[in-house]
Amino acid sequence: MRFDIFTLFPEVLKPYLQTSILQRAQQRGLIEVHLHNIRDYATDKHRITDDEPYGGGGGMVMKPEPIFAAVESVLGSPPVCPVILLTPQGRVFNHQIAQHYATYPAVALICGRYEGIDERVREHLVTDELSIGDYVLSGGELPALVVLDAVSRFLPGVLGDPEGALDDSFASGLLEYPHYTRPAEFRGWKVPEVLLSGDHARIARWRREQALLRTWQRRPDLLERANLSQEDLAFLERLRTMEARTKEDQDEV
Ligand code: ADE
Repeated sequence: MRFDIFTLFPEVLKPYLQTSILQRAQQRGLIEVHLHNIRDYATDKHRITDDEPYGGGGGMVMKPEPIFAAVESVLGSPPVCPVILLTPQGRVFNHQIAQHYATYPAVALICGRYEGIDERVREHLVTDELSIGDYVLSGGELPALVVLDAVSRFLPGVLGDPEGALDDSFASGLLEYPHYTRPAEFRGWKVPEVLLSGDHARIARWRREQALLRTWQRRPDLLERANLSQEDLAFLERLRTMEARTKEDQDEV
């Protein structure tokens, strides 16, 4: 899969792309990442990429011409792939959206900076807008890496383990169970006995229950959409009963 990233700060993105899983994915030809400096497409003497907002007010706005020139010269006009603008105004990115983009052969990512971007970019170039959460960052560079990383994990071969992304939190609709490695005891804190038992069926059940417990405690909203068996539902019912009893006991004190 090919990613074209349009930014004023390509150097910010490089170190992350040259590390670990994403570096290996590029070396194996599973993903191709092309970084484009929007400033290289500004044609005036000072290569200006921003200007004051019409109507006044503070902050600077990214000019449309260099962005259109960059995207169209690399991808053609109009580009055939999704052209994604990273912005806090976009749809909030999640597991399902990442999986969706992983079905495309290519996507373009535009990183905004300054106070904003000329609205004509949104209206006539961008096809999708994504936010990585309800907070404002200084630019779209980190969000672009977040999207690229999460999408890449769905591509066959990117994770060494073929189960990879399917095992991740959110794939099952639940948060992940707790993980432990050696030593079996650290500062007096022991690894749960079941994990040392070698009984694979018991381990699988324990992990499932831990995932259910964790999701119930931290993200109960996810349970509404998760794929749950009769056994899972019975376990959750036991949790609810236990909670109700504890509350009754507390009320009595
Ligand atoms: N640019 C600035 N803040 C952002 C956010 N939360 N998500 C995506 N792009 C952004």
